[in-house]
Amino acid sequence: MQAVILAGGKGTRLRPLTVYTPKPIVPVANRPFLQYQIDILRKAEVLDITLSLSYQPDKIEMLLGDGSDLGVNLKCITEPNPLGTAGAYRYAADQIRETTVVFNGDVLTDIDIAKLIEQHRSRGATATIVLTPVEDPSRYGLVETAEDGQILRFLEKPKPEELASLGINTINAGIYILEPEVLDMIEYEVNTSFEYDVFPKLLAEKKPFFAYIMDGEYWRDIGTPESYLEAHQDIMGGKVAGLEHMTADYESATAASIDSVSIIGEDCNIKPNARIINSVLGKNVVVEEKAVIENSVIWSHTRVAAGAEIDGAIIGRSCHIGRNAVVGPDTVLGDKTQLTDYTKV
Ligand code: GDD
Ligand code: MG
Repeated sequence: MQAVILAGGKGTRLRPLTVYTPKPIVPVANRPFLQYQIDILRKAEVLDITLSLSYQPDKIEMLLGDGSDLGVNLKCITEPNPLGTAGAYRYAADQIRETTVVFNGDVLTDIDIAKLIEQHRSRGATATIVLTPVEDPSRYGLVETAEDGQILRFLEKPKPEELASLGINTINAGIYILEPEVLDMIEYEVNTSFEYDVFPKLLAEKKPFFAYIMDGEYWRDIGTPESYLEAHQDIMGGKVAGLEHMTADYESATAASIDSVSIIGEDCNIKPNARIINSVLGKNVVVEEKAVIENSVIWSHTRVAAGAEIDGAIIGRSCHIGRNAVVGPDTVLGDKTQLTDYTKV
């Protein structure tokens, strides 16, 4: 069993965070995102993992190396130009002639991959896709299934009228098990999409194409600032199985107050009377006297000066938040942003 992770998208919706950091390795609770996907593959003993890269591939390859630190064999393949989800899979998996787990490289989940593989095999499926219910399916691939789990229809980014007429909310979670037969349906080095081309073709050709419907497992696409922040709230709230105890033991020798759910990176310096509530601080973040950080994610090497207040924001790497600045909800600051004292955003 092999895996291919599609990790070549530009991450435009996560800008400015993805200007210097490609989406697959944005830090989530202080770890490069892809490590979570690698962890759940390793748990299912899927150890041969190919990363399909396109945007800033060198940064990803340098950070994750050959996977030996993570207990897997990692191979990186970079496309000559973006080939779309299926084209990228074909390009990366060209030599693979066995059943393959395919992952969109931006979904955080605690799904048990071994159970999924088992269902795929027991149904004799050519393809199995994982589905999850969501409140607003319009941003996703909407999938209709029969009683027995067969896929009946796949509608990528459905229009409001399609949504209303179907009245279902199960979407493509971006996790597939595919037989090599699917690889043969995709042309080499041609831009092709699973969602618009391959899945409709599987349906037209009446291949055994099944759904694995999530039942209470955690799932979230981290590709927008709102969902990236929510993923952090969920991890701190203990909603992601296996990630309940991420909280670092911060030696708070001072009068600083840090709540029990916040995650504090290595070498942070939190000064007396500063307060950290429901937040994640990257490595080497400095928080000066009386600053308050709440419901926020702060990347490494950022300095928050005395009396500043940050609530509901994402702050990039090596920023400087001036004294008494107020940073409000939904703010996303790119790396190296400097906010003058008393700024309000
Ligand atoms: N290598 C490579 N090349 N990877 C790509 C390319 C490409 O040309 N295009 C996209 N990807 C990767 C992205 O990096 C991401 O990890 C994954 O493929 C999916 O692309 P997104 O751009 O994040 O798609 P989406 O979120 O709008 O929709 C997809 O995911 C939803 C679930 O989160 C679709 O698969 C939907 O059907 C699905 O519901
Ligand atoms: Mg996505």
